Amino acid sequence: MSEFPMSRAAGCPFAPPPELSRRFREAPVSRVKLWDGSEPWVVTRYSDVRALLADPRVSVDPGQPGFPHTNAVSRARDSRMRTLMQMDAPEHLAQRRLFAPEFTVRKIAGLLPRIERIVDDQLSGMLDGPNPADLVAAFALPVPSLVICELLGVPYADRAFFQEVAQTLVMDQADPALAVAASEELNAYLESLVVAKAAEPADDLLSRLAVEQYASGAMSLREIAVAGQLLLVAGHDTTASAIALGLAALMANPEQWELVRRNSDPALVAGAVEELLRYLSITHTEARRVARADIEIGGQLIRAGEGVIAVKSTANRDPSAFPEPDVLDVGRKARHHVAFGFGAHQCLGQSLARLELQVVFDALRRVPGLRLAVPPAELGFEENAVFYRVRELPVTWCPRRST
Ligand code: HEM
Repeated sequence: MSEFPMSRAAGCPFAPPPELSRRFREAPVSRVKLWDGSEPWVVTRYSDVRALLADPRVSVDPGQPGFPHTNAVSRARDSRMRTLMQMDAPEHLAQRRLFAPEFTVRKIAGLLPRIERIVDDQLSGMLDGPNPADLVAAFALPVPSLVICELLGVPYADRAFFQEVAQTLVMDQADPALAVAASEELNAYLESLVVAKAAEPADDLLSRLAVEQYASGAMSLREIAVAGQLLLVAGHDTTASAIALGLAALMANPEQWELVRRNSDPALVAGAVEELLRYLSITHTEARRVARADIEIGGQLIRAGEGVIAVKSTANRDPSAFPEPDVLDVGRKARHHVAFGFGAHQCLGQSLARLELQVVFDALRRVPGLRLAVPPAELGFEENAVFYRVRELPVTWCPRRST
């Protein structure tokens, strides 16, 4: 029977799976059994997770024997994809250098007015609609989706298509053949978009790739489409999940919500975002690697060719890095969390995710009377996707006074 990924269901919905927390305490580097019978290591402590993710002797290449695929979809999907996430140095560095200038703190800060406009529009739309509403569908999903569409230059009108494809790609229990077909469909769509942008460029990332990389022959259409697919999928589901789960966690800790709600200091909201990222650790299939040489992590010898999984959720609850780790404390300095990973593959989109989340929580805290419309115990959580998420988040608020 497969032991990993492990379920959070038996414990607090916002905490790491209880079995992983037990291993953190009793066997911090230990083996788990996967669906295909393989037995990679899990590494659960903060310092060990960082040491592992910074070690150049581990590989992210899913085609390497011993790479820990968490299910059949992961094997079918990742073995065919060559995005940043599947590349080792020096190929990884070369491609990362290409994209990094698009995601610097400075460049992303320039998107602030557009992000604020998107957040305001979506929030007004929700508040003008039926009360209560599902915050996931009405707000948490459209905001990051609109932002990444603007950044890439993907028409938002096509969202029904690419959101459906993205769902097939991120669901763990989907048929592997379906996931591969969905990925190919999205690649074909992005390839034709890049061709159109090469002919008629606009001020967006795909246009720049079309002109600077495709037209010059430096990158093929396929390579640009695959990179675009990673950004499109990674760019909206993760942040959508962080918005909805983040609000659910704040609502479950009313005194913390009250602190956010009453405090207009942007530093407090920014700190709350870091704390929520730490507390929730939403990418629960974790960071997977395969050792290319014998390495020692946390006193345990991991042999060349063995799979190893860095567990960010337990690392983010390690008391040696975060005192009283199970307490949600929006005043905590939590920016050293590993929710965005660590080392060479640390999240490329983290500045964007941070800015979006800061604008979002600053807008949500100003909605009068915003609260859950159901008891927290009634919320349903989705574990069968690459990201942990709340399925629906019914919320209510004080109706606006008509003018
Ligand atoms: C990588 C988390 C938002 C693009 C990663 C990794 C994590 C992560 C943990 C490292 C995976 C590994 O080491 O194997 C998150 C979270 C997000 C978020 C929690 C939101 C709350 C975004 C956004 C974008 C993005 C908005 C793009 C617009 C990427 C890319 C990589 C990546 C391209 C691959 C980097 C590389 O391999 O060099 N993300 N991410 N992410 N993320 Fe994010």
